[in-house]
Amino acid sequence: MKKHLKTIFAFAMAATMIFAAAGCGSSPEPTSDEQNVQSTEGEEEAEAPSESGDTLIMATNAEFPPYEFYEGGDVVGIDVEIARAVAESMGKELHVEDMAFDSIIPALLSEKADIGAAGMTVTEDRKASVDFTDTYVKASQVIIVKADNTEITGADSVEGKVIGVQLGTTGDLYASDVTDTVERYNKGFEAVQALSQGKIDAVIIDDQVAKALAADNADVKVLDEPFTEEEYAIAVKKDNTELVEQINTALKELKESGKLQEIVDKYITAE
Ligand code: ARG
Repeated sequence: MKKHLKTIFAFAMAATMIFAAAGCGSSPEPTSDEQNVQSTEGEEEAEAPSESGDTLIMATNAEFPPYEFYEGGDVVGIDVEIARAVAESMGKELHVEDMAFDSIIPALLSEKADIGAAGMTVTEDRKASVDFTDTYVKASQVIIVKADNTEITGADSVEGKVIGVQLGTTGDLYASDVTDTVERYNKGFEAVQALSQGKIDAVIIDDQVAKALAADNADVKVLDEPFTEEEYAIAVKKDNTELVEQINTALKELKESGKLQEIVDKYITAE
């Protein structure tokens, strides 16, 4: 069970960071009046090209509450608010592009988007294709099982089971480490649905997302024992040093002013 730990980023995380023991539950007000959400289908409208200097285009996958999710027609969440604050500090307007999670890095490489903000875990693999800013959140992968499941109690007992994940995520990676039967879904929500329908044995997904998804589903429970420790950062196209520096400056300011914590607290209620 320890073998996948080698592949994980074992950061020494600043003690000031968030999420000591946080649960999810608040339902934040949308604050996205100025936000322009565009799905990839609407791409041909080319409303806010990356080249237009006053827009910062954020690629995300809005199936990831509380970091990014739809509220009405708008994508809201922790990442959206952080990215908007970063954009503001650069004198730019944020423009959100919702796409499949595994399209985010390609969108950066092809310059369709400037930043990837999607609860994206820093991994060595991804670092080969994109650069990451400083991290802004600590997270972990956790296991979700049926509420009445007494057999799967943690990382060791999930080995060899049918595990559902969101395609292309670190959950996908770790599940593939412990079983040959991984069911990949486009949305974490679909994995949890399959679990409650008894189609799969467990789901491996990010902790806060697990809590958010399980909160809506009495058939399932989230196991306490974290499967991995991870950290999220914003991804940008490689060698875009200036942009990384600008974002890091903005993130530092958000951390120091307490604004980052405020954003997190708005979406995650501490237990
Ligand atoms: N933290 C995980 C990863 O980086 C999952 C991220 C999924 N994000 C999303 N917006 N759907 O692989």
